[in-house]
Amino acid sequence: MLFGGKKKDIIGIDIGASSVKLVQLRESKGVYHLSSLGIAPLPSEAIVDGAVMDSSSVVEVVDNLVQSLKLKTKNIATSISGHSVIIRKIQMSIMTEEEMEASIQWEAEQYIPFEISEVNIDFQILGPDPNDPSQMNVILVAAKKDFVNDYVAVFSECGLTSSVMDIDCFAMENAFEANYDIGEGEIVALVNMGASAMNVNVLKDGVSVFTRDITVGGSMFNEELQKRLGISDEDAETMKLGGNVDGVDKSSFDEILSDATENLLQEVQRSLDFFSATASDEKIEKVYITGGVSRFPKIKDLLGQRLDLPVDLLDPFNQIVVDEKSFDVEYIGAIGPLMSVAVGLAMRRVGDK
Ligand SMILES: Nc1ncnc2c1ncn2[C@@H]1O[C@H](COP(=O)(O)OP(=O)(O)OP(=O)(O)O)[C@@H](O)[C@H]1O
Ligand SMILES: [Mg+2]
Repeated sequence: MLFGGKKKDIIGIDIGASSVKLVQLRESKGVYHLSSLGIAPLPSEAIVDGAVMDSSSVVEVVDNLVQSLKLKTKNIATSISGHSVIIRKIQMSIMTEEEMEASIQWEAEQYIPFEISEVNIDFQILGPDPNDPSQMNVILVAAKKDFVNDYVAVFSECGLTSSVMDIDCFAMENAFEANYDIGEGEIVALVNMGASAMNVNVLKDGVSVFTRDITVGGSMFNEELQKRLGISDEDAETMKLGGNVDGVDKSSFDEILSDATENLLQEVQRSLDFFSATASDEKIEKVYITGGVSRFPKIKDLLGQRLDLPVDLLDPFNQIVVDEKSFDVEYIGAIGPLMSVAVGLAMRRVGDK
């Protein structure tokens, strides 16, 4: 999964189930400036459960987006998620990064439900375990090679080099950390609410202590609307975003929407409850939501009520300088929630782990 190389500029490209998002940043004196941004819709079924199903459609959309922005940089950082990606927090005896490199294949075997030869493995040493200093906590990531290679192939067909392969959850964390200061010992949960999935990442002192992918997202609204109103996916999307579709009885619309919202929020609550049950002395103090579904006007308050916790929107441009002469600031504000993963990716550098 890793590639060497010099520290060079990079473009963050997030291929989601509903659209491709692109962000390029420039860093100057420790401050990030937005230099490029774009978003382009994908046909439905082009990406299914995080996997590339229709690569020619994806290539076309990515290529058009990159061309339209006239980008010169060829190195990209992208991220994956879904069933083919396994993230585990494990404990191992204290060892160096090099020792870890040497033993990871062997060690990983017991934690990964796939053949070791079929996966790319990566890890991050989090540090010594507070309860047992002879042990260290490590995040182990494994992704099916086929699955990763499909992404690499898409980019290479667009003339781009996949220099960094990240995970949606961690890219969102990256964006959060660059934009928000959290108090010492504070525990916050980040939730990226996308079209096909929601990524949950709980951070303590800026370190990820729990991650989970939930395999439902905004498409659930569309599916319910389609099923219960007998309409197309396109019409369902229009109605969901507040538009009108002729000849459709709207009387049950609110009820369908609120049922689907309940379902989604229940899934978020379940994940956070699971974290609380496994870490009994650690309490989440605040929740940040992002992703397209976080734009739903009521979702923030409904989640807050359900969890009895403060919930805020994660703004990936919170601390990023956006030049009013080059960008429509209002537009950036409106699409901000969609861009968190891409912003986190754009902060990576060629040669990063
Ligand atoms: N204003 C809005 N109100 C409600 N839902 C919205 C709004 N804007 C976008 N969405 C929904 O958000 C979803 C897209 O969000 P996002 O771009 O974060 O997902 P994605 O990255 O394409 O998907 P995934 O992360 O699951 O692969 C779609 O389901 C879309 O209908
Ligand atoms: Mg997404």
